[in-house]
Amino acid sequence: MYEIVKKQELGDSINQIEIYAPLVARKALAGQFVILRIHEEGERIPVTIADFDRAEGTITCVFQVVGRTTKELATFKEGECLKDFVGPLGVPSHIEKYGRVACVGGGVGVAPVHPIARALKEAGNEVISIIGARNKDLIFWEDRMRAASSELRVTTDDGSYVRKGFVTDLLKELIEEKGIDLCLAIGPLPMMRAVCDLTKKYGIKTIVSINTLMVDGTGMCGCCRVTVGGETKFACVDGPEFDGHQVDFAEMARRSVIYKKQEKISLDMYEEKGPKSHQCRCGGAE
Ligand SMILES: Cc1cc2nc3c(=O)[nH]c(=O)nc-3n(C[C@H](O)[C@H](O)[C@H](O)COP(=O)(O)OP(=O)(O)OC[C@H]3O[C@@H](n4cnc5c(N)ncnc54)[C@H](O)[C@@H]3O)c2cc1C
Ligand code: FES
Repeated sequence: MYEIVKKQELGDSINQIEIYAPLVARKALAGQFVILRIHEEGERIPVTIADFDRAEGTITCVFQVVGRTTKELATFKEGECLKDFVGPLGVPSHIEKYGRVACVGGGVGVAPVHPIARALKEAGNEVISIIGARNKDLIFWEDRMRAASSELRVTTDDGSYVRKGFVTDLLKELIEEKGIDLCLAIGPLPMMRAVCDLTKKYGIKTIVSINTLMVDGTGMCGCCRVTVGGETKFACVDGPEFDGHQVDFAEMARRSVIYKKQEKISLDMYEEKGPKSHQCRCGGAE
């Protein structure tokens, strides 16, 4: 059982949880993720390790409510427990001194960018982070990202905070103003695709962390497969980070919606039946 020791709402449908998982915290590195299960009957969902505290034995995750599992997870309170919390999974980010690096986070993608930006800065890079969201209510971790970066630039699609525009607008400005040696982009698929289209024109190497559907997280089921440079890769064991200019985003987009109908049925059933008793979820008395 993995206790939620701290929980905080960060904004519209975005939650931050700190989970006591000392064995995961001991080994966690930037770029890795966990697969969790909220209770015995829950599905397995992948969530990025957004931060870790080895001394306290905790892992911080930030998640957005998009469907059944994340909706139910959002109802968990401090002191309640998750059934499974497996990790760290995936290949850690490759950290070295590149020079000037743009770390671009869109929406909830800001959380996975955070430990990578910090590690790149610690390795001596000039890290210019760009974070963006649809509106002000969806911007979070500005303070953490500022601390993890040499410089932070912020944008909102609707202009309700700092400035109006997409992260790609700010990235283009940055490239033309100073130039960059590497770009890291994490966020919704269309955003990562747009970043890659832009950086390709300038010949800038770009790393993306991809959010494919996942089941086992061990390279056995094939659910997370993605074509990278014409080869089939499994995001859970070969990634989740890949060279963005090699990723077949069109195929990824097609595969990401294959269970849309089932996901809707599952959410509708959950909303109809309501959550189970919290004590039952924790393995205590019903
Ligand atoms: C390596 C990895 C790391 C991730 N890290 C985070 C994170 O830190 N925070 C976070 O909020 N989410 C993260 N995700 C996405 C998260 O796993 C999904 O949002 C979650 O599985 C949705 O479950 P659900 O039952 O609530 O929704 P579902 O009913 O399964 O899906 C609802 C909607 O979300 C979409 N969706 C489902 N799974 C994914 C997915 N894997 N990626 C993107 N969209 C998806 C579906 O197409 C559908 O539109 C990560 C995914 C991967 C592969
Ligand atoms: S999730 Fe099954 S192979 Fe990657």
